[in-house]
Amino acid sequence: MTSNRWDVLIRNATVYDGSGNSPARADVALRADRIAAVGPQLDGEAGTMLDASGLAVAPGFIDVHSHDDLAMFLTPEMDFKVMQGVTTDVVGNCGMGVAPYKAASLFFGLLYPDVAFPRWEGYAGYLQALDRDPPSVNVAALVGHNTLRFAAMGNAQRAPTAEAFAQMRDTLREGLEAGALGFSTGLIYEPGRYAQTEEIVTLAREVAAAGGLYTTHMRNEAGGLLESIREAIHIGEAGGLHVQISHHKAGGKENWGRVRDSLRLLEEARARGVEVTADQYPYTSGSTALAAVVQNNALNQRGVQGGMGRVAPKDVLIASAPHHPEYEGKTLQDLCDRFALPAEAAAQRILEEEGMGVVVVLEMMDETDVRTVMQHPTTMIGSDGLPASGAKPHPRLYGTFPRVLGRYARAEGLLSLTEAIYRMTGFPATKFRLRERGFVRAGGYADLVVFDPATIMDTGTYADPRQYPTGVRHVFVNGVTVVREGQHTGARPGRTLRRA
Ligand code: ZN
Ligand code: CU
Repeated sequence: MTSNRWDVLIRNATVYDGSGNSPARADVALRADRIAAVGPQLDGEAGTMLDASGLAVAPGFIDVHSHDDLAMFLTPEMDFKVMQGVTTDVVGNCGMGVAPYKAASLFFGLLYPDVAFPRWEGYAGYLQALDRDPPSVNVAALVGHNTLRFAAMGNAQRAPTAEAFAQMRDTLREGLEAGALGFSTGLIYEPGRYAQTEEIVTLAREVAAAGGLYTTHMRNEAGGLLESIREAIHIGEAGGLHVQISHHKAGGKENWGRVRDSLRLLEEARARGVEVTADQYPYTSGSTALAAVVQNNALNQRGVQGGMGRVAPKDVLIASAPHHPEYEGKTLQDLCDRFALPAEAAAQRILEEEGMGVVVVLEMMDETDVRTVMQHPTTMIGSDGLPASGAKPHPRLYGTFPRVLGRYARAEGLLSLTEAIYRMTGFPATKFRLRERGFVRAGGYADLVVFDPATIMDTGTYADPRQYPTGVRHVFVNGVTVVREGQHTGARPGRTLRRA
């Protein structure tokens, strides 16, 4: 009889394995960066012994929708994610990627003006820079279309020339070769909004050939929601690749309820073999650049409705205004009153004073729609958190995953805890093809979260969003303790994950 020797032994846990199967009482043993064993009453010695009586053990949460591309360097402890139990972040969403460097640094520089960040060359260089100086979480990247297009042709409102297209395609290929999981668009933003469907389909075929997926912040999440869903599905069918609808929602009061139809379109597409799913953040407010709100004509109460629907100035909260921190936490209506200007003119004035880096929180969704989308089996969880320098980020940055577990699963019973965990672990790991992650299984990587299912909850508010959730006790990334008894250990064992 050999006596086992583990690095970590977690005893008496209720294990949610990430597959959606019912939880089981078990011990979980870790050795080096792997889960060495899962089973009842494991024996042997361990460097660290944890009693998890009354606690849940789940795979570390996977945030498929993050914008932490630069935060990985600027705040490598990634406290706002690991304190939620997140162990893997997918960056490069909504068309905003990290290459070509000049275009990427212009964009990310808006969110963090006057902050120095490293240089890298291409996706390979970005991932290598993280390998050299790792953050606390694992990182996987998507190639962002807006960044490719801006680098090739600026904000030109036309189709690319053959030369510009070749440049875009080459950057895309470089990213895919470096191991990017796929390709993202942000068709509501400049310059992606000037791309015709055919441009995306042609690029998507490159992604399909490499085995990547397509994720999209669609052209219109308001009055044109259904046409946009059809466009995304068409790109998947014509391009021959899997589709992920980003932050599935219906924006603008006049469009509330349309998610029932958009979900039906997903069901119909899936029934004919298109692999299309979605992600969602669990809030009725969104967050984006003020410039995009203006470009989409969302503040015009009478004119043609754009891709975000109509938003009243009282429902626009300034999250980040790098040069005017006194604006943060104020609504656009407050600033309209202060400037004695109507909404669009006040927004223009703020953009002129600040540049394009102003981030806002927009109250725009219906709680019933949020629940309808969450209950649907095509929905996984993604924070869409926007880390920026401002004081009042959307609370989703700190609270998304505990909010789904605490508020929607435990308190409201909207979905079971087992199902909610599946939507943030095994489901996204399978969709994004993150090998050997997303499940509590012997042999897999030891990305784990130990939490109290009776108390886990987000605690941030719009007024005070930078708050860690309660109930997250321990977090392991590649077998290393990143959170111990609710405290960040400072460890940075994150790895870059490349497409399988
Ligand atoms: Zn987006
Ligand atoms: Cu996004």
